[in-house]
Amino acid sequence: MSTTLVTNIGTLVTNDPTQTPTQTQTPTPLGLIHNAAVLIDGPRIAWVGSATTAPPADTAHDARGRAAIPGFVDSHSHLVFAGDRTQEFNARMSGRAYSAGGIRTTVAATRAATDEALEANVTRYLREALRQGTTTFETKSGYGLTTHDEARALRIASRHTEEVTYLGAHIVSPDYADDPAAYVELVTGEMLDACAPHARWIDVFCEKGAFDGDQARAILTAGKAKGLHPRIHANQLSYGPGVQLAAELDAASADHCTHLTDADVDALANSDTVATLLPGAEFSTRAAWPDARRLLDAGATVALSTDCNPGSSFTSSMPFCIALAVRDMGMTPDEAIWSATAGGAQALRRTDIGRITPGARADLVLLDAPSHVHLAYRPGVPLVSEVWQRGVRTTGHAG
Ligand code: NIG
Ligand code: FE
Repeated sequence: MSTTLVTNIGTLVTNDPTQTPTQTQTPTPLGLIHNAAVLIDGPRIAWVGSATTAPPADTAHDARGRAAIPGFVDSHSHLVFAGDRTQEFNARMSGRAYSAGGIRTTVAATRAATDEALEANVTRYLREALRQGTTTFETKSGYGLTTHDEARALRIASRHTEEVTYLGAHIVSPDYADDPAAYVELVTGEMLDACAPHARWIDVFCEKGAFDGDQARAILTAGKAKGLHPRIHANQLSYGPGVQLAAELDAASADHCTHLTDADVDALANSDTVATLLPGAEFSTRAAWPDARRLLDAGATVALSTDCNPGSSFTSSMPFCIALAVRDMGMTPDEAIWSATAGGAQALRRTDIGRITPGARADLVLLDAPSHVHLAYRPGVPLVSEVWQRGVRTTGHAG
């Protein structure tokens, strides 16, 4: 396999806390190295350190002083859908509130779409995300709500990522509006049997207008029995049992976490469940921001993700989410960048991504900036200049 040395990196974010910029400085979670180099061997990272001590390589690639960070890990998206909801967004920006019911519009459009149209949509948003530095993403079903349509969404998703989530329990299917119990039976029975082979995770929207705590527990427990690991949409629009349930069931992640009691914060801080915050949703629904500072100060692990979907958060941009988290959710730039990379990896229980360390997947982003802090300091500016995925430069100009 051939080796490439990416060298002359102004500031490298490794997310390896044992790395320190100089021997006199204290270690930080980002594990910064100044004037750094990264040796890539095939799809993996082989060596990381100071450019002055780098080993020889078949090819050298000059970063010209730019900063490098691990590829973003977007651990929460809903990319298998058709249509858009511009009108609903316009109505919200004129004062109307967001509710779970809007999901029905996308369910109708998704059911009516061909496999090819859905696949083309996924590809389009993935390319868009990759150009903005996302090298790993999770995505969900949840806009089909029949056995056939949920299984087809998962089949399509699994052609693009291994992080696939079964979300038959997004809302009660309109076909079962009069009998939600029968829909829960379907989601935990025939639909689960058809979907489990195509997914790694199971999710439920635990919220007023979607599923209550008992229904959510039944759904996640049934998924666990079929080998799917839980994650959950929790405490997004109101206080509720979702976060406690996530901790109880050892969910990898509780997502949204916008309305939290002190007991919810404690439950997250004392469990392995990551609190995944999705600021695109609060931006797009004009809602109160989740309080990242409160979670971090309590000792919880925080991830940042886009929640990319046509209803509540139609952005694929991790840099945008970082900027919002820093400006409005009390995070420092360092914390937000950790959460968008290593935090996302932890929310997917992965150790091979979200870091630039020997053995990790060679996913890295070069920024048109001397430091990673510019991602928050220069919001809205397209700073992602090169993206390397599994050791291959996928976008960007030659260095
Ligand atoms: O994560 N909260 C539930 N699901 C999505 C919204 C889906 C939609 O409105 O279409 C979310 O925000
Ligand atoms: Fe979501």
